[in-house]
Amino acid sequence: MSSRIPAKPFRSRDWFAAPGHIDMAALYLERFMNYGITPAELRSGRPIIGIAQSGSDLSPCNRIHLDLAQRVRDGIRDAGGIPIEFPTHPIFENCRRPTAAIDRNLSFMTLVEILHGYPIDAVVLTTGCDKTTPAAIMAASMVDIPAIVLSGGPMLDGWHEGELVGSGTVIWRSRRKLAAGEITEDEFLDAACASAPSPGHCNTMGTASTMNAVAEALGMSLPGCAAIPAPYRERGQMAFETGRRIVDMAYEDLAPSKILTRASFLNAVAAVAALGGSTNAQPHIAAMARHAGVEIGPADWAAAYDIPLLVNMQPAGKYLGERFHRAGGAPAVLWELLQAGRLDGAALTVTGKPMAANLEGRESPDREMIRPYADPLMERAGFLVLKGNLFDFAIMKTSVISDEFRARYLSEPGREGVFEARAVVFDGSDDYHARIDDPSLGIDERSILVIRGAGPVGWPGSAEVVNMRPPAELLKRGVTSLPTLGDGRQSGTADSPSILNAAPESAVGGGLAWLKTGDMIRLDINTGRCDALVDEAEIARRKAEPPPPVPTSATPWQEIYRATVGQLDTGAVMEPALKYQRLAAKTPRH
Ligand code: FES
Ligand code: MG
Repeated sequence: MSSRIPAKPFRSRDWFAAPGHIDMAALYLERFMNYGITPAELRSGRPIIGIAQSGSDLSPCNRIHLDLAQRVRDGIRDAGGIPIEFPTHPIFENCRRPTAAIDRNLSFMTLVEILHGYPIDAVVLTTGCDKTTPAAIMAASMVDIPAIVLSGGPMLDGWHEGELVGSGTVIWRSRRKLAAGEITEDEFLDAACASAPSPGHCNTMGTASTMNAVAEALGMSLPGCAAIPAPYRERGQMAFETGRRIVDMAYEDLAPSKILTRASFLNAVAAVAALGGSTNAQPHIAAMARHAGVEIGPADWAAAYDIPLLVNMQPAGKYLGERFHRAGGAPAVLWELLQAGRLDGAALTVTGKPMAANLEGRESPDREMIRPYADPLMERAGFLVLKGNLFDFAIMKTSVISDEFRARYLSEPGREGVFEARAVVFDGSDDYHARIDDPSLGIDERSILVIRGAGPVGWPGSAEVVNMRPPAELLKRGVTSLPTLGDGRQSGTADSPSILNAAPESAVGGGLAWLKTGDMIRLDINTGRCDALVDEAEIARRKAEPPPPVPTSATPWQEIYRATVGQLDTGAVMEPALKYQRLAAKTPRH
């Protein structure tokens, strides 16, 4: 409590109680009186704990945090800290145009400024919707004050006509049914709305559930935090315990640099494979790692490729978030990985203990939901890392490859895992929407749909557009998915066997820029090669032609973003930001 001795003086003292600076201290102090804080509290030497509030009417996935913050405050006060709540830049995955991805770096950058420029000694990072988790962790690790992640939790399970309907997955399925003429637009909307029955973030193992589980795998959340559904009573209890724990972390000076190590990031990579997690985890983990001064690259994802799928949750499996929570959530998955020797149990966590200690007794009681490592839902379920003459890096989520797709494309006797397909190239999603059902394109079962202009610079922001549906004519014949390829991303809730996150993107001269409709593309999942079968002389001739045009920037941030962003393989971060590390060590001038 307040009589405890901190490992080092809290930085907020420099604002409120620095010797010889009573004039400045008076200025800093007096306006906090507006809501009843006393000078004695702020000058008591107790830690000031920020609550980085990500919930708002514009961030509905995280809106539960507006209520949870009260329990966080209770926990902070209970343990002797002083809570100060402030808003973060909103990120709403499904609604932000031209894509929410452009705001991950903006939210990161603005949170860095807040944590560095105000008297905050430690912070509770409230997370939920996809990019809110990596943005917060990127910022906290750069400033390097003690930080803990509190997920808002997923929505309750959705039900429609007696079936589980999950966030996103129901949209992709209904989109195919609508195109095939099997449902009406009203039926489409009914099914989509049924998937969102309560407060919370996506209830599938989409990017939100993946990234909150990743936060746990990194050691940045209390054990079990990620999976508790938003409306459950345990969510408020977790908020209280998280508030209590961050005060101790402030006294212990348990900063992110002690937790976010290469070992903890490799634990996160392993967890994503076992979870059947979102392909967006790849750029987000790269980004968080680089901001923490750690490199996580293609070889690390390739090394986790052989990890099996353990979690039976949509889109790779059957169930949704409530059952995942009851089955033990992230700790039960990490427990399996630890038993199998695929997790570093020595990695330090926010509990102050190593990961292995947090996982004691966490074996899942529900083996239909979380499978034993030795009896998985699918072998080798990590991301397949690809390269070739069209890109230096791309990934494919193998855990969502259906049996039908495997039989059609990857099972030719003598050539298992190899297929060749004719490229049909779209320049961005307007072009795709305008032409996908155009019979003159001649799209059939031996086509691969390609989209370019969808990367960080081209879009701008990198868009979730690679999971393209087949033309209506093919859907009516029962062909529910075609191979796809693109320099954009796809939703973490998509079940499309896409080749995505291709880097470098076409807008910066990547190989997709010279690809033409009619070119043959060969994928070999045995060797990790993906090439256009176009000869060198022809490639050289096409490279001399002007690249496909990209839209001009529409806002100041888009221009700044484009000028600073890297490619998806290295996390699409603001490259000039990386030279700033451990900012809290230097308190800003008065
Ligand atoms: Fe926000 Fe999925 S749209 S969590
Ligand atoms: Mg998304």
